[in-house]
Amino acid sequence: MSCPKEKPFCELIAALGTVLDMEDEVKLYHAWRVALLARRLARELLPGEEARIFYAALLHDMGGIGLPDHIVHRVLQPGGEEDLEVRQHPLRGAEMVRLLPVLGPQIAVMIEQHHEHWNGSGYPRGLKNGDIHPGALLIGISDIFDLRLRVSRVKTWERVRPTMAELSGKAYPPDLWKVFDRLMNSSFWEEIAYDSSLDERLRTVHEILPPIDGLTGDLLKVTISLFAHIIDAKHPYTGGHSHRVAAYALKLAEALGLKKEEREDLEIAALLHDFGKVAVPRSVLDKPGPLDPGEFEIIRRHPLRTMALLEQVSGLRRLAEIAGLHHERYDGKGYPYGLKGEKIPLPSRILAVADAFDAMTSSRPYQPMRTPRQALEHLREGAGSQFDPRIVDVACVLVENIGE
Ligand SMILES: [Fe+2]
Ligand SMILES: [Fe+2]
Ligand SMILES: [Fe+2]
Ligand SMILES: [Fe+2]
Repeated sequence: MSCPKEKPFCELIAALGTVLDMEDEVKLYHAWRVALLARRLARELLPGEEARIFYAALLHDMGGIGLPDHIVHRVLQPGGEEDLEVRQHPLRGAEMVRLLPVLGPQIAVMIEQHHEHWNGSGYPRGLKNGDIHPGALLIGISDIFDLRLRVSRVKTWERVRPTMAELSGKAYPPDLWKVFDRLMNSSFWEEIAYDSSLDERLRTVHEILPPIDGLTGDLLKVTISLFAHIIDAKHPYTGGHSHRVAAYALKLAEALGLKKEEREDLEIAALLHDFGKVAVPRSVLDKPGPLDPGEFEIIRRHPLRTMALLEQVSGLRRLAEIAGLHHERYDGKGYPYGLKGEKIPLPSRILAVADAFDAMTSSRPYQPMRTPRQALEHLREGAGSQFDPRIVDVACVLVENIGE
């Protein structure tokens, strides 16, 4: 049964599903369509498994997170499914998701097998018939449906149907195809086929989320830590960024005398500060040269996206502002709002220093890596303009104490 503890956990997973479904401001509705459809099929074919299948479907393409563009585009390209990175995304996604407490081990197998085909022609392992998890087959057929619908100019079942019927007995068992066909011939089509109706349903997303049994203890913390890894997995050069920013921010907060609860909040906000970056295409994030104005605008939107995502999660809502203001500058020339001085909450000012320090001391395509002392110099230069001078002073003492 649903209990208050699991609500934020489910909402956090839903937020991840949402951001995986985005490409900058464009909603692709891939993960959500697959999740709602697979869940509907599960209600009929695998009752009792509905919740697990729903969350597995929501995260099924998570392994595609580090690819230059969204997995749906990759799969639809000619020869896309021959691409090694595409062929590995089920394994990569399963590996990531397995670390999610309680739910992870239960759904990893479905993610690993969502491209396996009934006749053995799928990937990554070429499993056959009964060797494929029944939940993976439901996600698989829902996934194929979304891709076929996406490329169909006319969005009617009549048009999409033949392209799916030919895969019966190949990608999915004939029995499953029969149920699927019947469902699509019903009024359910209206609910699932149009982006506008999905959008409508997602507005009340908390009502859609099925409860997960067996969640106990403080799972949110473990989950948030895992999410920090997922966020950093978006681009290869930021491995560990979110955890390091959290560690630096905590040191600064301690030295500045923040209370225990404030420090705990800051830690979570730091771990999730770049959550919105998951929606930024990697072609923009990793561009070695200067960004054009449009690309710059896309980057500048990530704190707003982080805020919107944290707003979705009850229990993390109060952290949305702290996390979302990490690119504000002390002189008011930052983004997204151009807040100035003390108008920027102290935890966000701390985050700004911690974030900049880590960006400078790790290697990035657009700047050379600095030593901690060089980074400190840069912080000093920015004291009073980019950064709160009081926090820079504290950072200086901390770095000097560590030595080099
Ligand atoms: Fe996939
Ligand atoms: Fe997919
Ligand atoms: Fe950021
Ligand atoms: Fe950052």
